Order: sequence, then C-alpha cells, then structure tokens
Amino acid sequence: MKLNAIVLTAFAALSLGAAMCGAVQAQDTKPGDPVNGKKVFLAMNCFECHSTSGQGGGEAGPRIAPNPPSPAAILRQLRHPAGRMPAYVPQVLSDAQAADIIAYLQSIKPAKAGKDIPILNLR
Ligand code: HEC
Repeated sequence: MKLNAIVLTAFAALSLGAAMCGAVQAQDTKPGDPVNGKKVFLAMNCFECHSTSGQGGGEAGPRIAPNPPSPAAILRQLRHPAGRMPAYVPQVLSDAQAADIIAYLQSIKPAKAGKDIPILNLR
C-alpha cells in the first residue's frame, strides 16, 4: 500500500513533467528542419566529436554523414548511446530538436572529389 502510494506519486510527478514539457515543445510529427538542425548540432556540441558536417574526427566520433544511420538508429544512439558518446535525454534535447538534427544529417551532400573542383585542376 505504501509502495503503491510512492509509485502513484512518482507517476503523477512524471505525468506533470511530461505535460509541462509538452507545453514547451510542440509534439508534432512534421519533418525536421535541417537549418535549425544544424544550429542544434552545433549548440549541442555534436560537432566537437563528429565535426561540423558529420564527417567524423577519427577517435572522437565516427562519420555520421553523408548517408547517416536511420532516424530510429540516430534517436536510439542519442537516448541510449553505445560507446563513449554522452546521452542526450529529452530534457536536454527534445524529440523535435532530434528530428531537426536528423533532417540536417540527411541534407548533407557528399563532398566533391578533387578532380571535380576546377580550381584544383588547372594543369
Ligand atoms: C564526446 C564525443 C561525442 C559527442 C559530443 C557526440 N557524439 Fe555521437 N558518437 C560518439 C562516439 C564515440 C560514437 C561511437 C559510439 C560507438 O562506439 O558505437 C558516436 C556515435 C554516434 C552515432 C551512431 C553512428 C553509427 O554509425 O552508428 C550517431 C548517429 C551520433 N553519434 C550522433 C550524435 C549527435 C547527433 C550528437 C549531438 C547531439 C552527438 N553524436 C554527440 C561521440 C560523440
């Protein structure tokens, strides 16, 4: 009985927290915004390990763009990371922000090869 009360109280607190978060962040399912995603990617320091275009930095973090993992895999890595990557809980990085990051990573195009850049091929 006492345990039930504790569990109920905890549940009520969680629900209230979720309701408050819902008020701050829109719970819509529209596709992410890549422009805001880049801002979040930089603001959340993803770039420090994965570089600004997700090209990766060797030891620090692997390449995650172009051709990023699936949205579900990215979200899983953010919430329950494998390896040495820190976790990004919803209180720190909302689902909407995560969707924007995913849209940003998906928008990154492969770099041109040197032979396709005219200034590098003057001879
Ligand atoms: C402190 C360094 C660090 C930071 C900051 C960091 N990551 Fe990572 N990330 C890693 C490492 C290391 C791995 C590889 C984990 C493993 O061993 O599988 C990884 C893996 C990933 C993967 C999975 C790659 C794959 O091929 O499976 C994704 C996606 C990812 N990170 C996205 C992000 C995003 C988005 C952010 C910012 C919100 C972020 N990371 C911040 C270090 C970091």
